[in-house]
This record gives sequence, C-alpha cells and structure tokens, in this order.
Amino acid sequence: MSVAEDSQAELAMHYDRSKEIKAFDDTKAGVKGLVDAGIVEIPRMFIRPIDELAEELIQGKSTLQVPVIDLSGLEVEDARKKIVDEIREASEKWGFFQLINHGIPSSVLEGMIDGTRKFHEQDVELKKEYYSLDRTTRRVRYHSRIQLSQSKTVNWRDSLNIDWMVSGQIEPEEIPPVCRKAYVEYIKHVIKLAETLVDLLSEALGLKPDHLKAMECAKGQAMACHYYPACPQPELTLGVDKHTDLSFFTILLQDQSGGLQIMHNNQWVDVEPIEQGLVVNIGDFLQILSNDKFVSINHRVVAKKVGPRISTACFFTGVSEPPKIYGPIKELISEENPPLYKEFISSDYITKFFSKPLDISGLDHFRL
Ligand code: OGA
Ligand code: NI
Repeated sequence: MSVAEDSQAELAMHYDRSKEIKAFDDTKAGVKGLVDAGIVEIPRMFIRPIDELAEELIQGKSTLQVPVIDLSGLEVEDARKKIVDEIREASEKWGFFQLINHGIPSSVLEGMIDGTRKFHEQDVELKKEYYSLDRTTRRVRYHSRIQLSQSKTVNWRDSLNIDWMVSGQIEPEEIPPVCRKAYVEYIKHVIKLAETLVDLLSEALGLKPDHLKAMECAKGQAMACHYYPACPQPELTLGVDKHTDLSFFTILLQDQSGGLQIMHNNQWVDVEPIEQGLVVNIGDFLQILSNDKFVSINHRVVAKKVGPRISTACFFTGVSEPPKIYGPIKELISEENPPLYKEFISSDYITKFFSKPLDISGLDHFRL
C-alpha cells in the first residue's frame, strides 16, 4: 500500500458515512439548514469521488446553444410545420429544447418560482412535517436525497416532490399551504401545454397528431420543486448528479441563476435561462417508444457560490394504474428498423430506476 492509499484507508476507517447521512436526515432541515448554520466547508457526504473531480478538470466546455423554439403561430399551417420540424431536429440531436411564447403567463411562472422559494424558506418547524424519504406512501414530500443508499454522494439541493403518477389526481389540500395557490395555477397551465406538446411530438415522429395522447403519454404527472442553496465549495459537489429523466418528457421551469448543463457531443453545454422560457427534454420512455429516434440525454446541475437557484421539473410519466404496456411504437419499427427495447409497464421501469444510482441510465435494462 502506498502512503496515499494508507492514509485514505485510515480516513475511511474513521469515517462513518451512514452515520453522517443519518444525522443530516434527522435535522429535517435539508441542505438549506447547513447553509443557515453558517458552514464554510461542506460535509464529506457531499464531496464527489476524487476520480470524478479529476475528470472534471480535463472535461471541455462547449459554447453551443440548446435550440430555442418559438411556439407562436401554432394554429397557422406553415408555422406549425416549421415548429414540428424544429422539435424533430432538437429531439433527435439534442434531446432538449427551450420553448418561448408557450402561452403560460409570466405571472404564473413567477408565482411558481416564488411559491417554491416560500416553501423552502418557511419556518423549519413547518417544513419538517413534510420531510420524508418514502416515495411509495407519501405523495407530497420534502427531502434532500433521492436514492441514497447507492449514490456515491449526496447532492447540494432540497426538493419538494408532488407526485400524482401513482394514484391519480392529487387534491389541492395536500399541497403545502404556502405554495398551494401558485402550484394549482401552474399545474393547470403546464398540463395544457403538455397536451399541445404531445401532439407536436407525435407529428415530429411522423405519427398522427393524437397518437401519443391516445397512449396517455401526457398523463401521470410528478412535480419536483427544487431549491439549490448557495454552496461554499461548489467545485467539490453538484446540485444534482448527471442523469436522464424517468418520463416521456419533462417540462422544466428555471429561474435566471443558471447551472443546468446537458451532455452534447461529449461536452457539457449550459442551458442558458431565458426570461419566461421553459426547458423541455425527452425522457427515457419516449426514447424507447421512438426506438432511439428521440434521445433521453444526460443532464446535471452544477453547484454555485451564489444562490439559491430555484427550478421546477414536471415529469409526464403516463399511467401506471391499471398497468399499461409501453414499448417501441409499431408504426416506427420495420424489418430494417427492428425494435431495440422490450415492452414494459411503467411501474417496473420506476422500480428499476430507483434501485440504481442516479448517474447510471435505466435504459440498458430494457434494451434487447
Ligand atoms: C430533474 C432535473 C434540473 C434542474 O429534476 O430531473 O434535471 O434544473 N432538474 O433543476
Ligand atoms: Ni432531470
């Protein structure tokens, strides 16, 4: 053993990771609680493995721009055709695009960001009652870690999850009072936008406009309302690890802070915030349904010295009750283009997704 290995092993002996994580969970105050307590060095559980940190230093950064698509004129035939072409190209090459003139009023977007800030910044005692890591029984829960036991590090963020994909429509009363009104308003608008978007995605795949809607792809929503506090040592951790989304597609609202990056041609590309814009990305399910024509791309959020950064991801995951079978769409496969994935029911995919580390894609488990 080298001296370095020796001291690493010794350090490991004195470091009880699960104890550190448990103590953190017990505070129920999240990452924000650490910042409020005035820490200047981040606890070890947030520090990325040394090989990842080293890789980061040699990784190039791209200055390319994620495609921006203007939805105005959607009712006019020529404009619609152009929009569908842009969505096709972006979904094939990038797996991500930004939407402008999408029809959700700016007051609704601002209300959503503000509601999320209010939830996370309210009195800890009020927030605590929502703290839970139990995805299966709590439809509304606040937490700082997703699938922790297997993750190498904990991410520098807190999230409020509102999850109605498992058991149908959520009652507004279940949403925390500080953000209830703003969330109900946003949800109403975002579902309407999703219904427009599935039609456009169907057309972009060369299918009838209602094909994906008939498969209930715009149903089954889950919302994650993230709060990324300022971080005293941002270079050592991440806001969220790289991952692909468990959804058909995701609509993301981000504030103007920046920090979201996507992997494109082996380089990280910043998704620059656009005032009143929304980010859309293709999730794993649509990559499977489209038989790899559309791509579910790795993305992450870097930590920053300044904060908080606030964002809301709305995942459209389809129905799981009663179980529905999804797989590559028949119209999109042929002898020359055989199916690349097995059929699946979404609850199986969800179980698989949560039993792996976030940075490993779930797609390979279903690839033929
Ligand atoms: C997610 C996600 C990005 C962000 O919730 O899946 O990728 O900007 N969020 O918060
Ligand atoms: Ni994501």
